[in-house]
Amino acid sequence: MSGDVAALLDGVRVCVVGGSGGVGKTTTSAALAAGMAARGLKVAVVTIDPAQRLATALGLDELGNEPRRIEPERFAAAGLALGDGELWAMTLDPKRTFDELIARLSPDDDTRERILRNRVYRELSDAIAGSQEFTAVAKLHELTREGGWDLLVLDTPPSRNALDFLDAPDRLRAFFEGRALQTLLRGGGAGLRLLGRGTGLVLGLLRRVTGAELLSDLSDFFRLLGGLLGGFRARAAEVEELLRAPDTTFLLVTSPEREPIDEALFFQRRLRAAGMALCGAIVNRVHVDELGGEDGALDELPERLEQAAGLSPALARGVAAAFADEHALARRDAANVARLRARLGAAIPLVHVPLLDEDVHDVAGLVRLGAELFHTAA
Ligand SMILES: Nc1ncnc2c1ncn2[C@@H]1O[C@H](COP(=O)(O)OP(=O)(O)OP(=O)(O)O)[C@@H](O)[C@H]1O
Ligand SMILES: [Mg+2]
Repeated sequence: MSGDVAALLDGVRVCVVGGSGGVGKTTTSAALAAGMAARGLKVAVVTIDPAQRLATALGLDELGNEPRRIEPERFAAAGLALGDGELWAMTLDPKRTFDELIARLSPDDDTRERILRNRVYRELSDAIAGSQEFTAVAKLHELTREGGWDLLVLDTPPSRNALDFLDAPDRLRAFFEGRALQTLLRGGGAGLRLLGRGTGLVLGLLRRVTGAELLSDLSDFFRLLGGLLGGFRARAAEVEELLRAPDTTFLLVTSPEREPIDEALFFQRRLRAAGMALCGAIVNRVHVDELGGEDGALDELPERLEQAAGLSPALARGVAAAFADEHALARRDAANVARLRARLGAAIPLVHVPLLDEDVHDVAGLVRLGAELFHTAA
């Protein structure tokens, strides 16, 4: 049984869309946001999409680091009336978000400028911001503080490990406390782990900028950031609170293949351990079995195609072979989804979305995907 995504989001104010790489998180986030806007809500979707595929899908050249309203006419033309609802969209600019966070935490303009100009900060913030998980939650938090949104949908980055996202507040805290850098400077391996993917950049900096200049930049960095620590700790605590709030929920997206499903199940365990809510899972790009799941029908298919559709024997065999391939994929998908169903537990609803015959590259595509998510397909 496949559910409807609107029911899952009833009363939700923040929805974080997570899942393995390439399963359709960004596309689903946008279709979901549009569908909820069509239900009269003021919705913002924050995507993490360096390739700007969402901007392209929405027919915009570029989305910036602040939500921008999408003209309702674009959706009306594709058959989705937004009515009183509003759809806003942005793509996260991690570096800018990080600088904004520093600016907000700085007690005065002078401190802000000195930090933003500090070379150690610049290299490190590039490295940290490069792990978009950190900045995504910071931006989300800022948008909830601004208020005015009925629903915020947050897409998550195409990371090797989708779960990095859950550690974001902790990692940021480590950054601000200077723990990672301090340990690194003392030559400890823990610093390398804390900095994660940023390590190479830090080591590069230490090699490039040496001597007295580096020492003064470093001591400035620790002193200035140390001054922001209290404010940052309070923020990090608020961010964690936001992720655990009763009206915040996670929604998993997976394809019907084994590995993304395993990752989704792992994600579910991590969420549970972290005390965060999961409202459902979307199984995207499911192959639909045109034969109604009957193996027997395949044997007679070439003959039936010849007789009923008047195809030549060769063509009938070709068409039947294509049906057989789809049938096999649909069976494989069904088996994987059954396993997901059993392992997720009955309390987590599944929404099935079929593989559409083409990529979602425009508003019409988003509307089609939305129709599947919201079960409004004709
Ligand atoms: N149901 C669907 N049918 C057909 N194509 C789809 C469907 N859902 C998504 N796609 C396509 O699959 C591709 C990947 O989708 P998307 O970029 O949303 O995935 P993602 O999970 O955000 O990827 P990444 O992890 O790289 O950020 C896109 O080209 C998109 O148009
Ligand atoms: Mg994406």
